[in-house]
Formats: sequence, structure tokens, C-alpha cells
Amino acid sequence: MKTTVSVIKADVGGWPGHGTVHPKLIETGNKMLGEGKNKGIINDFHVTHCGDDLELIMAHNKGVDNKEVHSLAWDVFKEGTKVAKEIKLYGAGQDMLKEAFSGNVRGMGPGIAEVEFTERTGEPVIVFMMDKTEPGAFNLPVYRMFADPFNTAGLVIDPSIHSGFVFEVWDIMEHKKVMMKTPEEMYDLLALIGAKERYVIKRVYPKKGKLPENEPVACVSTEKLFQTAGKYVGKDDPVGIVRCQSGLPALGEVLEPFAFPHLVSGWMRGSHNGPLMPVSVKNAKCTRFDGPPRVAALGFQICNATLGEPVDLFDDPAFDYTREKAEYIAEYMRRHGPFEPHRLPLADMEYTTLPDVMKKLEGRFEKA
Ligand code: F6R
Ligand code: MG
Ligand code: MG
Repeated sequence: MKTTVSVIKADVGGWPGHGTVHPKLIETGNKMLGEGKNKGIINDFHVTHCGDDLELIMAHNKGVDNKEVHSLAWDVFKEGTKVAKEIKLYGAGQDMLKEAFSGNVRGMGPGIAEVEFTERTGEPVIVFMMDKTEPGAFNLPVYRMFADPFNTAGLVIDPSIHSGFVFEVWDIMEHKKVMMKTPEEMYDLLALIGAKERYVIKRVYPKKGKLPENEPVACVSTEKLFQTAGKYVGKDDPVGIVRCQSGLPALGEVLEPFAFPHLVSGWMRGSHNGPLMPVSVKNAKCTRFDGPPRVAALGFQICNATLGEPVDLFDDPAFDYTREKAEYIAEYMRRHGPFEPHRLPLADMEYTTLPDVMKKLEGRFEKA
């Protein structure tokens, strides 16, 4: 029987503002997923948060897109919204964009990353959670993990990963996808995923070798909230699942890309570029200018489709230097105020006040 890890997340209310998640929502998640476990829907779970997003991490044997599992998560978010309204949390039900549940939470507002795989003798899995940014924020780190020999020594040294990986890239504007091989198509791949607001890495697969070719080794949530809602309702705040070791990048090779606080879009009002700061779950709360954008990482050693205890991987002085650098970059970017490249370029501002400003000025533009 194969094992599935599902991470389903939503912002159902912030505390305060869009800062973090109230303990009562975590409590609701724990209670309801506990009931789901008793009913045999899932085998194990961990409820946590990153910024204002409630994160449900679940292990089971039911495969991806399973109705029972999705419906359980949807019920947690619905109940969470109720609790959030009662205690007047901010933006209660923010990501609950649709009313009626029809068997799958995709396109309903929440973000989802799921992987189904044959459990190895030792199966380390890392769950990454980001707040105040978009799915494309994963492009650079995931590329580095699986395709950059300057990051992943194993690509050069380990015969079992020397042949490279296959990337599934989605065009999230046109809803199309393409499979690309590295190292053969590395430059073509970079030509796409460098445009991170449009082309996003959805999954990574192993090539023929130690692991089954059809079982993903990484998966990123690629929901676009503003497309689902038809208007801007906040950034997607994506999650990712990455399996590691023996035939895959090592734990440290998977974490290494986050030692560089790369610029991602999101931050204040989803309209600014800023550094992605790796933090512990305890520090996964957005403060300065509603940010800076954050990423937390929990490591699990999967055992017979159970999660066991998580290890908070960025809760480590080894990432202090990165955090300091991120603060420096945040300060530098902030000094630009409303100017690009701190503020996002025009194309990304279309769902903000910009169209109204243009409308107001219509007729006042003269030939220059
Ligand atoms: C960004 C985010 C926040 C809000 C900002 C304004 O993803 O969630 O930066 O955009 O706090 O929020 P409202 O419009 O709710 O006052
Ligand atoms: Mg929010
Ligand atoms: Mg959020």
C-alpha cells in the first residue's frame, strides 16, 4: 500500500491583522483531525501555522485528491471560519472562496500539495510553508535542490542522482503544463521558471533508477487565489513537500537553497518584492510591513503512513546569518517606498488601484 502526505492550508482568520494564527484555530484543527483519525480517514496529522495560514499536514493511504481527506480539511476550515467569526479574528474565512464542497478543495480557495509514494526503509519528508508570497517563490529553491550542482553535491558525486530529474512546469496563466529534463534542458527550464509569476514548478520526478519514475519526489501548491476569486484576495502563500536522501538530495541539500534569502513577490498588500526569510514556526509571524515573507520547514521521518514528531528545521543558529541578511535586504528594499523594484511592476498591479487611477486620468493624457 502506498503512503500519501497531504498538506492543505487556508487563511481563515488572522491574529492580529494578517499576522499569525490564533491558538483556538490550531485547537479546532487538532480536534477535528483527531476525529478524522479515529474514523480512519487519515492515519496521522500535524496542525501548525505559517503567518496567518492554518496548515493541516496529514498522512494516509488514500492517495491524492481523495474526497474524504479533502472534505475533512474543508470541514476544518469551515469550522475554523466559524470560530474566527465568533472571536472576531481578522478576515475570517478569507480563503473560503466557494460555498458548496464538491469532493475536492482545489479551486475552492485553500492551497494543496500532495504526494503519493512507495515508502522506503527510511523516508524523510520535509514540509515547507510560506506566508506573504506566491507559488513561484519555490522555483529558485526547488531548482537548486534538484538541478544545481553548486547546491546539491550529490548531482556530481552520487551515482544514483547523477542522471538528474524531471520537472513538471505549469503555466498558471494559460493552465498548461510541460515536462522538462535536467541537466539536458536546464537552460530552457530556467528560461521559463525565471518568470516565476507565470511558470511554476509543480512537481519533480526521478529519472529511471532507484525510485519509481511515476512517483513525485517534490510537489508545490500552485493555486492562484486571485484567479479563483476573480479579484485580489491576498497572496497564495504556498506550501511544498520534498522527499529526501538515498537517491534524492540529502536533507541538507534540500535546506541549503534557503540559506540565500532570494527576492520574492508578495509582502505588504501582495504588491512588493522582498527577501524570503527562513524562520522557526515560533517566529513564523508577519510583522514588519506585514512581512518580510517567511518560510518555515518541518521535517518528518515517515513510518507506515504516519508522520511522528516534526523537527522545526529552521529553528537553528545555522540560519541566523541568512536571517540577518534578509533583514538587511528588507531594510534596503523598504527605502524604495512605492518605487519599483520594491513595488511590483505594472502588470502585477492590475488587480489593485491601478486600473482606477488610469480610468480617472483617461482623457487627460495629451500627445507628447
Ligand atoms: C498580504 C497581506 C497583507 C494585507 C494588508 C492589507 O498578502 O495579507 O499585507 O494585504 O494587511 O489588508 P486589508 O486589506 O485586509 O486591510
Ligand atoms: Mg490574512
Ligand atoms: Mg497568509
